[in-house]
Amino acid sequence: MLAIIGGTGMTQLACLEISRRRIMRTPYGEPSGPLTFGSINDSRVVFLARHGYGHTIPPHEVNYRANMWALHSLNLTRVISVASVGGIRPDLTPGTLAIPDQIIDYTHCRKYTYHEGTDKPVTYIDFTEPYCPLTRSRLLEAAKRANEAVMDGGTYGATQGPRLETAAEINRLERDGVDMVGMTGMPEAALAKELGLCYATIAVVANHAAGRAASAHAIRLEDAHAVLEKAMIRVRNILERVVEFDAD
Ligand code: HPA
Repeated sequence: MLAIIGGTGMTQLACLEISRRRIMRTPYGEPSGPLTFGSINDSRVVFLARHGYGHTIPPHEVNYRANMWALHSLNLTRVISVASVGGIRPDLTPGTLAIPDQIIDYTHCRKYTYHEGTDKPVTYIDFTEPYCPLTRSRLLEAAKRANEAVMDGGTYGATQGPRLETAAEINRLERDGVDMVGMTGMPEAALAKELGLCYATIAVVANHAAGRAASAHAIRLEDAHAVLEKAMIRVRNILERVVEFDAD
């Protein structure tokens, strides 16, 4: 079974034939909402809306540990997350889809690990490749089969939010090598890694990042919402193909 985490613009998965919803509790509290079980083209899928089904949970208040724990407790191996981003690289224009391959984390004060407590030995995880290469390549292949253009690779910069960035912050991120900026990529990816989940992200460019192109003086949020709404149709086309790899 494949898990899909929907972000802004995807609080529901229109292509999912829903069979049931399940409220889960975890040692880390409650996930963002009940897990929705169903199927896409006869492949079993579980869906979770990262910001809640009413889109009420801001990025810094998402219980990432509970979300990933709940999915992991279903004994599944693969998680695909959908995340909206601002485009920093000039070719990452609104509506572009990308499958990032690196992360720089600028968030703070979130719960980053399951390995807490003084009674346990210190545990390190390798995070050289934050995203699962196999899951990334399946997404790229699914995009090809769906005839949807996606950018292969790119560095995702995770900011704290919920405010958007200043133009100077975006300049700094660019100097760091960040191609796209979002607020939810971390600690989600690191927690997935701790749990041994194969995790990759479809990043959906909602807007030019602050200070760039049409966002030179402000980010027009209404425009970003409209871009996301349209782009999610293409994301769904890709998801409909990617489930073929996990058919069981
Ligand atoms: N910055 C941070 N997160 C975002 C943006 C942005 O410009 N657009 C969509 N999510």
